[in-house]
Amino acid sequence: MSDLNKKPAQPEKKPVKIVETVLRDAHQSLIATRMTTEQMLPIVPKLDQVGYHAVECWGGATFDACLRFLHEDPWVRLRKLRDGFKKTKLQMLFRGQNILGYNHYPDDVVEYFVQKSVANGIDIIRIFDCLNDMRNLETAVRAAKKEKAEAQIALSYTLGDAYTLEYWCNIAKEIEEMGADSICIKDMAGLLTPYRAQELVGALKESTNLPIDLHTHYTSGVASMTYLKAVESGCDIIDTAISPFALGTSQPATEVMVETFRGTPYDTGLDMKLLSEIADYFRPIREQDLESGLMSTKVLGVNINTLRYQVPGGMLSNLVSQLKQAHAEDKYEAVLEEVPRVRKDFGEPPLVTPSSQIVGTQAVLNVLTGERYKMFTKESKKLLLGEFGKTVKPFNPEVQKKAIGNEKPITCRPADLLKPALKEYEDKIAQWKRQDEDVLTYALFPQVAEEFFKYREAQTTGVDPTKADKVNGAYPV
Ligand code: CO
Repeated sequence: MSDLNKKPAQPEKKPVKIVETVLRDAHQSLIATRMTTEQMLPIVPKLDQVGYHAVECWGGATFDACLRFLHEDPWVRLRKLRDGFKKTKLQMLFRGQNILGYNHYPDDVVEYFVQKSVANGIDIIRIFDCLNDMRNLETAVRAAKKEKAEAQIALSYTLGDAYTLEYWCNIAKEIEEMGADSICIKDMAGLLTPYRAQELVGALKESTNLPIDLHTHYTSGVASMTYLKAVESGCDIIDTAISPFALGTSQPATEVMVETFRGTPYDTGLDMKLLSEIADYFRPIREQDLESGLMSTKVLGVNINTLRYQVPGGMLSNLVSQLKQAHAEDKYEAVLEEVPRVRKDFGEPPLVTPSSQIVGTQAVLNVLTGERYKMFTKESKKLLLGEFGKTVKPFNPEVQKKAIGNEKPITCRPADLLKPALKEYEDKIAQWKRQDEDVLTYALFPQVAEEFFKYREAQTTGVDPTKADKVNGAYPV
């Protein structure tokens, strides 16, 4: 008998699990988070039939955009989704001590937000910190465990001298010790190339027993290949978006990954017919968004600059718009070269909200003023004061001194310096409060929340909401 006729030993079956992002990251990445609850609800029963590991449906931008642009209560959206999803887990993204906002909140607010998120239907909370300072995750993780939710800790993935395999493996061990249920590699910029993913996932698998979820973006064009190598290396869960809302700055397409693994030990077992019916539902929404310009063809191609400059696509477009406002578009290349220098001076943080905005805006200032660190933004000062936590590398001491003068930098967990604040928020919104959750909405986005509360009031009191802005300055519709 020739060896060729021998069947190779069948490898152990290890179906890869899929997190569908169409209700959160996909529309955040492609249409500025403008998908409405009304657009989501009709397809929920079908999404619920698929057998996804989870559906990601809530997070900072969805919460903010709901209130600010769609005049929707994000809590009501969550409750409606929960009503519709009978068996699928719902997942949210949570910025550690920043919750869904941009500043650090006291522990009582973090705990209450977690409690209410779970009470309204969230099953899995993905918690990250823009500096990967694990101290900023402790309260949220503890609160999630207390509410019996699944606590997933996400590493903000980035490149740089400090970010060795050893660094990531040590963090993974810390995450496991903190009691997290799973680890996510959060590659918001699409920097993780296929062979780098193989190496990273392989190393993490050796340092931890926790399931590993890989979250990346298609921005640089490598993401599907990255998932393939990651899954072959033991990655347990991947985040994908149904095809009409996939690719570009969003995730790889769900159907493509499902077909890729069909008939292999990683076969997801998901039903292609069902997935294509879901795609049929979202396709006209995509067409409509393309037609209105809400979805720009600019975000749909491959942006290789993200690999060249190692900055997230969203940050690149922010830089362009900041320079446009200053009529200094010709400074784009100079700013792109300044970004890594500022990042080094600022302790080489990952570039993810809010650190991406802080580093980007400072780089723009440094170039536009013609002198590095002639001016600092308020946020830069806060970062250099240690108000966001500890960076993986120390700050450039000269730059820090220039920014903070003789102020004493914070070295403890920043939230340890914050007093409980819930009561104060409660008092401030007493006149608008219609549900417990309103206090959290207000704590996170005070101005937008108040406008929304006025709008809601106008609606329930029978005032025509389309005229509400004229009546009492409420939300323009
Ligand atoms: Co993302």
